[in-house]
Amino acid sequence: MKKIIIANHKMNPLTVSESIKLAEAEDLKDLYLAPPSIFLSEVKKNIKNAELVAQDVGVSEFAVGACTGEISALMLKKMGVKMVLVGHSERRAGGETDLQISKKIKTALSAGLKVVLCVGEQLSIRQKGLSVVKKFLEKQINTAILESKNTKEIKNLLIAYEPVWAIGSGKFANPEEVAEIASFLKTLINSKVLYGGSVSVENAKDFLSKLEIDGLLVGGLSLKPKEFKKILL
Ligand code: PGA
Repeated sequence: MKKIIIANHKMNPLTVSESIKLAEAEDLKDLYLAPPSIFLSEVKKNIKNAELVAQDVGVSEFAVGACTGEISALMLKKMGVKMVLVGHSERRAGGETDLQISKKIKTALSAGLKVVLCVGEQLSIRQKGLSVVKKFLEKQINTAILESKNTKEIKNLLIAYEPVWAIGSGKFANPEEVAEIASFLKTLINSKVLYGGSVSVENAKDFLSKLEIDGLLVGGLSLKPKEFKKILL
């Protein structure tokens, strides 16, 4: 099975021309690119192979309407976006709630988008051991899919397991433990499980060689296209 690799550019780079340049350098088939939303439409015009991903979606259930500042799931879909990240820990840290995450997932799935639900524990939970981590992740997933678990679109949900302590820190989870967590998550929900958190050229192959791990969500490294492309199989 082909692994799924998503480049999460986060709030980078500063200008549309730089964003296009970065996307062009990573425009490979089977690669998923997540530039900032403001650059999505220009990036779309300039790539031929990669699929477009949005880093977030508005919480409104409506396609259009009085919702200042929001970007609807259907707007993304109509623009040619294939997938959206929901519940990234950087957004949760900014105050995003479980209820909002649950609504976003439902709206995005019903608009026909694939959704990558990001889950992951803080260091304090990790220190209590893997069984506590599993319980924590189970709760995160169950609350996130509350509104969509009985829909047929739930098959378009993917999980990204991203321990909070591993994101952007240079510390990454043990691939064996990630494989164990991924197979546990698959007992809860029939979906693909990706890993994210300080993925590097050196550690990527250890994650990708695990059967249970279906791909990677890559932040920092994806801003360096030459390096980033080394992780592709
Ligand atoms: P990182 O980010 O690869 O820079 O740790 C991953 C993510 O937040 O998706």
